[in-house]
Amino acid sequence: MIDEINTQKTLEKQEEYIELLQDILYIRANNQQPKAMVRTYGCQQNVADSEKMKGMLEKMGCALTEELEEADIIIFNTCAVREHAEDRVFGNVGALKAYKRKKPSLLIGLCGCMMEQKHIADKIYKSFPYVGLVFGTHVIHKFPELIYHSVTTGKRTVERGEDDGLIYEGLPLHRDGSFKGWLPIMYGCDNFCSYCIVPYVRGRERSRKPSVILQEAQQMISAGYKEITLLGQNVNSYGKGLDEPVTFAGLLQNVSSIEGDFWVRFMTSHPKDASKELIDTIAANEKISSHLHLPFQSGSDRILKQMNRHYDKEHYLEIVNYAKSKIPDLSLTSDVIVGFPGETYEDFQQTLDLIREVEFTSLFTFIYSPRVGTPAAKKDDPVPYEEKSKWFAELLKVQEEIAAKRCASMVGKTYRVLIEEQNKNGILSARTQNNIIVELEGSEDLIGTFQYAEVTRARNWILGGRLV
Ligand code: SAH
Ligand code: SF4
Ligand code: F3S
Repeated sequence: MIDEINTQKTLEKQEEYIELLQDILYIRANNQQPKAMVRTYGCQQNVADSEKMKGMLEKMGCALTEELEEADIIIFNTCAVREHAEDRVFGNVGALKAYKRKKPSLLIGLCGCMMEQKHIADKIYKSFPYVGLVFGTHVIHKFPELIYHSVTTGKRTVERGEDDGLIYEGLPLHRDGSFKGWLPIMYGCDNFCSYCIVPYVRGRERSRKPSVILQEAQQMISAGYKEITLLGQNVNSYGKGLDEPVTFAGLLQNVSSIEGDFWVRFMTSHPKDASKELIDTIAANEKISSHLHLPFQSGSDRILKQMNRHYDKEHYLEIVNYAKSKIPDLSLTSDVIVGFPGETYEDFQQTLDLIREVEFTSLFTFIYSPRVGTPAAKKDDPVPYEEKSKWFAELLKVQEEIAAKRCASMVGKTYRVLIEEQNKNGILSARTQNNIIVELEGSEDLIGTFQYAEVTRARNWILGGRLV
């Protein structure tokens, strides 16, 4: 209760800053509507955070833009999960110097997971003097105050904040999509997989109240959303620490019970917490996507232990086999890391064995990237990167064959699909209930509607079809 009063007070203060900024930003933009650009790197958690910042920027009177040239405020919401993600940000921030030179009033802000690492925030501060604002994931709710401080003092502002373990409900929100939307159900992560930076930059795991989630889902459905994706780093441990006992399967059931024609998706599931109750809930409910994104990371028990994943290959296969037996159209996807420190070619072969046995629809594949401050980064890592790249290529080849075979097995069948977008050549991209993309010919007006499509061809792992 005290927490709720405190978060409420903080948010009221932010509303005051928003009001002050309406005039300040207008004047700074030469008495025109200011334009703001938010670029998001990384996972859907960041996408959801960016939607909040965009919502706040709109309340400050800004128009949102995708064009760097015309922006008066540029925010990069960054990801720290692998070195490659960080390098992209460093490169792109370097390119902003020219924009700042052309428009000295331009406010450049960097936020997100990278900024929660002190050594990175320091490096940004030193290397990029034209970046006016640096803030971390723990202080997003203070975004208006931070902007206010930057523009009124003209001083560079850095605030990494601390994880206060609270959830700030009721921030403004600008959703990017009009028929597909993200719905965070929890924040942070307590798992501390030994390679992963997320728990350090996102803080402790905390769940939003089911009533708040259900209300938001209801609003989305009333507004015409056809697909809601429930988000969390480990959705299966949803509910820990809440007053009312509720499991993720229970929440999923309740969201899908809201009246209306829509699909519910969710990610990510951690194999250690994926329950039979969850599988049964998916199996019993048509609105819940028959898609399970269940990252296994490695097929070697020895490596899984060192990764601190708390399951072994046998347990993983047990859930997968249970899910396959219960959910007829099940599509399985996963994340896998190649070249964890100390991984041998034999360990890697066990990863390939698992991939061959499960037959995933698709895989997100990563070469291990050391993250400062994680236990794995301190381990000996004798296998050279070139060698790991060879293993990686071997893995891709195995998966390509599996994906092609799986796609071919869908030819001739008819699926209900949600039409998502049209590409430059006029081809529609649609997604099946179990999250597989099918390309179709058809008119643009169908975007955002459910249709039926017969799969007529599979070219490698891309499906083509026709509307029926
Ligand atoms: N919470 C999710 C994953 C979030 S990060 C889960 O537990 O499944 C997304 C993926 O990035 C991870 O599943 C992992 O495969 C990969 N990843 C995380 N840290 C990494 C690192 N240091 N090097 C390479 N890949 C990494
Ligand atoms: Fe990272 Fe593991 Fe948490 Fe996923 S569960 S975010 S891999 S620590
Ligand atoms: Fe990246 Fe942060 Fe997500 S590190 S993967 S954006 S939680």
